Amino acid sequence: MDDNKYIEEINSAKSQEQLSELEIKLLGRNGIINDLLSKIKDIPNDEKREYGQKINMLKTSIDQSIKVKKIELSKQKSSVFFDKTLPGKAYPKGSIHIVSYAVEEISKIFEKIGFIRVSYPEVDWEYGAFESLNMPSNHPARDDVETSFIDVPAHLKLGKMVLTPHTSNGQNREMKRVGKPPIRMINISKCYRPNWDPTHTPMFHQFEGLCVDSDINIINLRGTLDYFAEIYFGKGTKTRLRPHHFQFTEPSFEVDISCNACKGVGTIHELSVQKKCRVCKSGWLELGGTGMVHPNVLKEGGIDPSASSGWAFGFGIERVIMMKYGLDDIRNYYSGDIRFLEQF
Ligand code: PHE
Repeated sequence: MDDNKYIEEINSAKSQEQLSELEIKLLGRNGIINDLLSKIKDIPNDEKREYGQKINMLKTSIDQSIKVKKIELSKQKSSVFFDKTLPGKAYPKGSIHIVSYAVEEISKIFEKIGFIRVSYPEVDWEYGAFESLNMPSNHPARDDVETSFIDVPAHLKLGKMVLTPHTSNGQNREMKRVGKPPIRMINISKCYRPNWDPTHTPMFHQFEGLCVDSDINIINLRGTLDYFAEIYFGKGTKTRLRPHHFQFTEPSFEVDISCNACKGVGTIHELSVQKKCRVCKSGWLELGGTGMVHPNVLKEGGIDPSASSGWAFGFGIERVIMMKYGLDDIRNYYSGDIRFLEQF
């Protein structure tokens, strides 16, 4: 047995292929080691033990040398030509969904002025979605909001289970969570109403602002709306309030923002003629509902309406995105069409 001969052969292997061939030749089923082992039967009994030990030692050192050589060969520079000047492959990149992006943007805008971002359940009881908002069970205003009910037994006190139709269900919860004013909440959550057309999807997102403290009035509300509109829609964007009705605010308003395409004028100068603005037609775009929190809502939340006042607003996220980018079909947001989504 010439141990060194085998080890030298291994050490002088020039490639992985050559080494593999050697491995088979030495350690394979019909290889040299097995051949030597099979010869043990011809060895005199009193020499068998020593013979066996020798072969095992040889096997171990061959094994070790092959391992070391394998590593050594793998470190050697590949002889394959590598062209460093070839352009790299661009892998497709994912992007943040426009709605998630807007949620982040809106949260940041309000967090900057001390609002706390919260997220309340999208599956709630009638109490949270209506009763706590001054809309008792037989109140006709509840018909204005089409609601999806969940088919489970009603709660004895809180009523039926619903997919919340607005983020206003967070108002009562936040008043109870904070305990006493000041409250500055920005509640962003999914909402559900059974509509499907270019401006509605059955699932959508709202962001709800709630501010309660001593001496809170409409001036603070206007200031906050102007602040939001200028940052989110762009400098120079104005807001205006139109009287409206909500059960949970008094007085109530609808908020409009000035159209950025025509700068609130309603007409646009195109090819030397003055035309109606195609985006807004009137100079203004409707943002959503707002108003001063109704005293009954404050009371229900455990807040004394004679000591504190507040305002609230609720706007659709899909809607503000549409207004910001001039999009005309909100169903695209959820179509999963990558060509639409990767533009943002
Ligand atoms: N919840 C109302 C809606 O979904 C919006 C709103 C919120 C109005 C807060 C007033 C105050 O239309």
